[in-house]
Amino acid sequence: MAFILLSPLCSQHIDTRYVPETDPLVLEKLEKWQDLKFGLLMHWGPYSQWGVVESWSICSEDEGWCRRKSDDYTEYKKEYENLQTTFNPVHFDPESWALAAKDAGMKYVVFTTKHHDGFCMFDTEYTDYKITSEKNPFHTNPKANITREIFDAFRNEGMWTGAYFSKPDWHSDYYWWSNFATPDRNVNYSVNNYPGRWRKFIGFTHRQIMELMTGYGKVDILWLDGGWVKKRSSEEIRKAYEDMNIEKPTRIQNQDIHMDELVKKARVKQPGLIVVDRAVYGKNQNYLTPENTVPEKELPYPWESCIISGGGWSYTPGAEYMSGRRAVHMLVDIVAKGGNLLLNIAPGPEGKWQEGAYKLLRDIGRWMDINAEAIYGTRAIAPYKEGRICYTSKGDALYAIYLLEDGEKVPSKIKISVPGITDDARISMLGTGKELKWKRPGNECVVSIPRDVPSKIAFTLKINGL
Ligand code: GLC
Repeated sequence: MAFILLSPLCSQHIDTRYVPETDPLVLEKLEKWQDLKFGLLMHWGPYSQWGVVESWSICSEDEGWCRRKSDDYTEYKKEYENLQTTFNPVHFDPESWALAAKDAGMKYVVFTTKHHDGFCMFDTEYTDYKITSEKNPFHTNPKANITREIFDAFRNEGMWTGAYFSKPDWHSDYYWWSNFATPDRNVNYSVNNYPGRWRKFIGFTHRQIMELMTGYGKVDILWLDGGWVKKRSSEEIRKAYEDMNIEKPTRIQNQDIHMDELVKKARVKQPGLIVVDRAVYGKNQNYLTPENTVPEKELPYPWESCIISGGGWSYTPGAEYMSGRRAVHMLVDIVAKGGNLLLNIAPGPEGKWQEGAYKLLRDIGRWMDINAEAIYGTRAIAPYKEGRICYTSKGDALYAIYLLEDGEKVPSKIKISVPGITDDARISMLGTGKELKWKRPGNECVVSIPRDVPSKIAFTLKINGL
């Protein structure tokens, strides 16, 4: 992996807990994944009918995103679970999504096969709380096995597939046992007192994941959410309570779902599978996933920012989408720091994307048509980002991408501050191919920029001859 040496300043931002993978097939795949740069995340389920946050409103934590519209929790939860009887996305057309994503330059998709609420958007054998259940009006539709349809459609367009899967399952009696109340997101019974029940949960989770690993064609990424479901030593538990200053430990438990064993089984079916056990530091988190943020500095391990493009993670009526400029600037910023962008779009209850999502993808696509060369397959190069200029590199080419603000006049000159540019370097602009004049006052490299640039969002200089 071509990681650049880091300055002491940025090493302060690095998460030293990243554990590198050792399986050569996974390493090879991770390297290829780092070439892809841009993917699509989709959160979709019966909750989309209400336009509420995915799953969280049935969790009793006193957090803003868990608030519900009713005062009566029991009644609310019943209604929430009843949403499966009316979820009928008759306009579901994954091919049109795959095409729009491809035209925007996206190279992979990650889809919520099951979110925390436990509703399965695939045809699992192990629960009836699923899209193919007879309770669900969509079950007779030929495209009822939504996950399969999405994976097939995106794969047909040459994209990679990733299964988002929530480890916690708030519908399973093996996780939220109906014998007890559910005070928070965690397993609601004592795993120590009821080891048999917990074992059933492990079995259930393994079987469901193996269904996804065997019956859905090639799966490239297993994106596991719900980082609180993880192995914890008694020492870690004690420490967690100490930090929280709680006297009587009741809730933080060792929620070990035997991840090593699961990953091993999964990779027998899907050799080289990238596993992202989010926020669980160890070898099963092949890349890190900063959420809705872009790290300030480049990071020396594989990473991906997942970002909401409009509304929330889940469908929001009247959602406003970010501008094409904002998305492109973000993508460039992320790529310059060595990461991937996973941009979320939330399908609506009838199976449609909002027009704003399509427009955003078209705007990004227009920019990518000209500048993609400076994105795919590149690696980070110091100084990564300086003011409005982001750098990427590929082979012996260096790319300098200048981010233009709305209405900004194109600068007549820009200074490239990557060291090592030789006197006979050729500098051109992507999209025009024209060679540009440049000078070397002292040690610097100053390039003259024509007034007309191919995009008002950002333009790219290609420098050959480092
Ligand atoms: C947050 C949300 C969760 C969502 C995830 C996506 O953790 O709580 O619902 O799936 O972000 O990254």
